[in-house]
Parts: sequence; structure tokens; C-alpha cells
Amino acid sequence: MRKYLFAGNWKMNKTLKEVEDYFDKFLKKLSEINLSDREIMIAPPFTSLAYCQSILKDKPLKLGAQNSCWEEKGAFTGEISPKMLKELGVEYVILGHSERRHIFGETNEIIARRVEGVYKFGLIPILCVGETLEERNKGKTLEVVETQLSEGLKAIKEIKENEPVIAYEPVWAIGTGITATPEQAEEVHLFIREKLKKLYSEEIAGKIRILYGGSVTPDNIKDLMKKPNIDGVLVGGASLDPEKFFKICSIKVEKE
Ligand code: PGA
Repeated sequence: MRKYLFAGNWKMNKTLKEVEDYFDKFLKKLSEINLSDREIMIAPPFTSLAYCQSILKDKPLKLGAQNSCWEEKGAFTGEISPKMLKELGVEYVILGHSERRHIFGETNEIIARRVEGVYKFGLIPILCVGETLEERNKGKTLEVVETQLSEGLKAIKEIKENEPVIAYEPVWAIGTGITATPEQAEEVHLFIREKLKKLYSEEIAGKIRILYGGSVTPDNIKDLMKKPNIDGVLVGGASLDPEKFFKICSIKVEKE
């Protein structure tokens, strides 16, 4: 069975003091739940990774980063390498997030290089894919997702372990308060799973976790997680509040 993954993407939020306050609350609650069927991950900004590593030592919480270069070191001003992230205890790296694509102009080509670099260093890429509202209205959702998926994974020819994670995040649902319905999300998740079978194998596709992201809250998490191909969530806004994120991470998953 795939372990569920509840991932928080803090984006460009939280100073060190705010991180300290957050974990004061969150870690107390975390000890109340059984984590045997799930992983919880938080991706803070780069500036608090080292601090998070020190607070989270020996805690059952995974650390993620919000981007990574593909090279180990060198003349790449403004970038961070997978080796540096690994040194800070990072296990997951969010790549190809819609804000990277749409605000910072990252292309499928750049994202594919990042995915390859991160994977080669033994970190787990979380490749984000998703259509804009215009693309959805034109009936292009699956086409867009298929291109982003196959282009983003194109350098990973073979998967033996440390399967990458895919996050389906419709751009129109991110930070808008409009969540995809569980049915809309499941349709795309199933499509991604089928595509992964063709790219790799039935066995590998069965192991890859596919997360949903876009206005996930404590109120809609339960219904989303009922769907057979939704293996977890990538949460932005609601992950900034320790109470809300804890509610999301601690729900009882009941599959349909
Ligand atoms: P949101 O963001 O939960 O605030 O919609 C999700 C994301 O960008 O990963």
C-alpha cells in the first residue's frame, strides 16, 4: 500500500521566530497521532531549513525544499544545490510548482533538469503539474497534464527506488479558495496513474504517490482522500496554521 503523504508548502512565509512558534504547537499535537500509514512533510523557505533540521531532529516529520538546482555546485547565482539540501536533512523537493512556472517562467525543460538532478542525488522530487482555468475551459486539461508529466520526468528513464511523487495542482484552485471536486481531481489522478504505467510499469505506477493540491482545508480533506488515486495532498495556505495543518494531517482516511 502507498503511504499517504501530507505535505505543507509554506512558500515565501515565516521568519525564524514564527517557525519556532509553529513547531511549539504542531509538534505537541503530532505526538497524539499514529503515523504508521502516512508521512507528513513541511517545505519551509530555504532560510529556515537549517533551523527546522535542528528542531525536527528525531521527530517523525519530513523536511522538504521548494526548489533545487540540478548541479552539485558552481556558478548558478541564486540557486541551491541538491547536495546542500541533503546536508540539511531535506528528503523531498517540490519542483515545477505553478508559481515557478507562471511567475518565474520555468519551462518544462528547466523543470526536467531540476527533477533529474534532485533524483540523481537521492532526494525525492515532487513534480507539480496542472492546467490553468483557460486550458480547462478549452478541454485541454489532460493534454496539458500529460505534457508536463512526460516532459518533467523525461530524464528519469528507470525507477528502482525512491519513486518520485506527482502533485496535481490545477492552477485555478491554488490559493483561490476554489477546490477541485474530488471527482475532478480523481479523473486527473487516474489519468496520471495510467500514463505512469506506460512510462514505467504497472508495478512502479502502483507505488508512485499522486497528491492533490489547491485550496485544501480541514473541511474538504476527508472527501478528497476518499478517492482511490488521491494518495495525499500538497497544502499551501492552510499549512501555515499549525492547527489547520494538524487537522488535515490527522484525518482518518476512508477510501471509497
Ligand atoms: P493552496 O496552495 O493550498 O494555498 O491553494 C497549494 C500549493 O500551491 O501547493
